[in-house]
Amino acid sequence: MTSRIIPVDLFDLVVFGATGDLATRKLYPALFHRDAQNQLPLESRIIGASRRAMADDEFRAFASRAITDHVPEAERPAGCLDRFLARLTYVQVDAVSEDGWPGLSALLRGAEERVRVFYLAVGPDLFGPIAQRIGAHGLVSARARVVLEKPIGRDGASAHALNEEIGKVFPEPAIFRIDHYLGKETVQNLMALRFANILFEPLWNAAHIDNVQITVAETLGVEGRAGYYDKAGALRDMVQNHLLQLLCLVAMEPPVSVEGDAVRDEKLKVLKSLKPIAADAIVRGQYRAGASAEGPVPGYLEETGLKDSTTETFLALKAEIGNWRWNGVPFYLRTGKRLPERVSEIVVEFRAIPYSGFRPSAGEIRQNQLVVRLQPDEGVKLWIMIKDPGPGGMRLQNVALDMTFAEAFRERYADAYERLLVEVLRGHQTLFMRRDEVEAAWAWIDPVLDRWASGMDPPRPYTAGTWGPAAAVALIERDGRTWHEDGEA
Ligand code: BG6
Repeated sequence: MTSRIIPVDLFDLVVFGATGDLATRKLYPALFHRDAQNQLPLESRIIGASRRAMADDEFRAFASRAITDHVPEAERPAGCLDRFLARLTYVQVDAVSEDGWPGLSALLRGAEERVRVFYLAVGPDLFGPIAQRIGAHGLVSARARVVLEKPIGRDGASAHALNEEIGKVFPEPAIFRIDHYLGKETVQNLMALRFANILFEPLWNAAHIDNVQITVAETLGVEGRAGYYDKAGALRDMVQNHLLQLLCLVAMEPPVSVEGDAVRDEKLKVLKSLKPIAADAIVRGQYRAGASAEGPVPGYLEETGLKDSTTETFLALKAEIGNWRWNGVPFYLRTGKRLPERVSEIVVEFRAIPYSGFRPSAGEIRQNQLVVRLQPDEGVKLWIMIKDPGPGGMRLQNVALDMTFAEAFRERYADAYERLLVEVLRGHQTLFMRRDEVEAAWAWIDPVLDRWASGMDPPRPYTAGTWGPAAAVALIERDGRTWHEDGEA
């Protein structure tokens, strides 16, 4: 299977936060990969912008290090790095004063026919000030776009205010709000599975699906991001965006097309159909000292030095969708840091067969499951019952039809950011969150945040390296179900 590389239109990409973590770890490596595959027109420019004084050459050396650090040597064909670095220019710009803006304007002048992208790889407090100056300096050309990363607000009101601020400068079709989960290979494959096959759709409803489980588990702790993380916590950091987006892709109606608004209209309907979260349907946790595969690890409070923090590093909740297709089907969501393994997956568990004519000696008949694995080992498994081959009478066995992509397609996976950056350059909106989606997701979460703000439901401790507090297990087991574990559908 060979991929088709279609070059994008000529562009200027301005990266604010040019020396920051996101740009270094994700954006330059992603752009480099696309460049190495000849997808970027030769004259296209990448303009680094930040407050720091830096010459073009220094910036190129910086980006060069970012690429050698984050792109394996085998994926750096000869000559590609030099070609990539030659696209780079640097401009010193201050987000909160006029310093440097005339320089940026001069650099962009005369290139109005190009696609022009402003990537705000900066803290959210700078989104508004930067957008406002982009507007004031007349830099919003006909093909201009702006890219924002989460967090988009910290509750419904602040998200609304931010969206208003950006919306004064850029029209909604020019605003690309990144949720990098939407750029993951398997997430896209979920759309293909659901809407390019006849098999699943007749079964994709409350009559045939018993429950859905979405797990995003990480082994790492907060890794030097305590400043951000402690103000966010798992609900804001992961659930409001990544997990809810996954839920939407599982639950949405077939869109009339896979173009931007058609998909986003359907996702929005799901978000609006979510029933309020019951107080006993959510479990917060915070890790205590424990162990990872590498050895002992400190608890969240010791790791961050924040002795009184009540920020959750784990969350499990039961979401319910009030609509014709899904009423009565629980969606169990779970995410956390310092869990035993790094795994992100969606498990769709079908209902039990209504009646079995097999003898008890045939063994237990398990419910079918479709397991969509985002990482690691991207792939899809469909667990079904078959007869145990060979003699010995009728004995049933649960086996996985394995559609693990690594075996079927041997090419390197593109990182989510590669896909997302190319989609921005093309102006395709499907993989980005629309304003009303973001605000609807907050509207569902706000009541929980309010409850927590009044001191209710402090996080329960869990030992680092375990699957969260015991209450998270109880949350699903009291419904007569268990969290899915791979290998034993
Ligand atoms: C980010 C969160 O959005 O997603 C991080 O802010 C988290 O806390 C990360 O670690 C997980 O992304 P991935 O792609 O590694 O699953």
